[in-house]
Amino acid sequence: MLFKQQVWLRQKLLVLGSLAVGSLLYLVARVGSLDRLQPICPVESRFGGAHSQAELPLRALQFKRGLLHEFRKGNSSKEQAHLHDLVQQLPKAIIIGVRKGGTRALLEMLNLHPAVVKASQEIHFFDNDENYAKGIEWYRKKMPFSYPQQITIEKSPAYFITEEVPERIYKMNSSIKLLIIVREPTTRAISDYTQVLEGKERKNKTYYKFEKLAIDPNTCEVNTKYKAVRTSIYTKHLERWLKYFPIEQFHIVDGDRLITEPLPELQLVEKFLNLPPRISQYNLYFNATRGFYCLRFNIIFNKCLAGSKGRIHPEVDPSVVTKLRKFFHPFNQKFYQITGRTLNWP
Ligand code: A3P
Repeated sequence: MLFKQQVWLRQKLLVLGSLAVGSLLYLVARVGSLDRLQPICPVESRFGGAHSQAELPLRALQFKRGLLHEFRKGNSSKEQAHLHDLVQQLPKAIIIGVRKGGTRALLEMLNLHPAVVKASQEIHFFDNDENYAKGIEWYRKKMPFSYPQQITIEKSPAYFITEEVPERIYKMNSSIKLLIIVREPTTRAISDYTQVLEGKERKNKTYYKFEKLAIDPNTCEVNTKYKAVRTSIYTKHLERWLKYFPIEQFHIVDGDRLITEPLPELQLVEKFLNLPPRISQYNLYFNATRGFYCLRFNIIFNKCLAGSKGRIHPEVDPSVVTKLRKFFHPFNQKFYQITGRTLNWP
């Protein structure tokens, strides 16, 4: 009898203990979220929202963290009303490139900001004729739900190099903010090559060495017909954009610095987007196994970028690297001059 009572008591204690730990974890997760959000943010004054500021923070984060289903299950009528506020908004800012510059990292890191909602997929609306023909409503419907005070950001790195895109974006919104993340051009070209090489290898196909593609074997000069080289001539592409948008509408992100020291780069973007500073060192931690900074939402939720970001590059003949760096040098100087951002590339 005594033994039975002891077992019963032990079971009870176990259940109560689990409940207490579960509740504690839940609370910690929520407090962690609230912590980050309490002091937010007169964003609406910048982006023309009409909602009460007091209501935004918690709702915004709950939505952003995929807690929408919580509302749907146990929703009170008040929460239902908040759900009705959610809209699919055209982006107020676009990361237009550059491919392999760190576009995914930039988007994910900006998404840490409670006033930013990312479009997870690359939409390729402006660079793909078939998509563009579907019209702006099709594009808007591809956007995530957000509150009117929030801003939607999408990234499609092909926009930067595609001829028709600046005019098309201009027609949608001539005052849109444009983010360009760049890396040292030779490194970016090698990264670009590495991505293509990996794709070929996955299909069991052989591929040329980088050196063979980047240098014209007939002239021994840099091969400007090679797309990975052309994409890295940033100033050429930017000049096309400047026919439509003033330089003030662009912000250049240093992709090399975003790898080693992301916070100051993100703070510059917050400023450019007129967002109150909300991303902090707490949200970014260095993961030694990945060799990159990863994202921390609160003490429970964190994530690193997928393994396809941060590939090991193949060894490239140093003389080819030197030749490429020399080739890019004058274009880089022009890029610094136009953008007002000097990046100290070799
Ligand atoms: P590598 O794979 O050459 O290292 P994009 O998202 O535009 O394709 O850019 C990919 C690059 O983002 C990667 O290039 C990587 O160096 C860089 N990157 C920057 N910050 C990163 C981060 N926190 N985690 C992983 N990759 C990051």
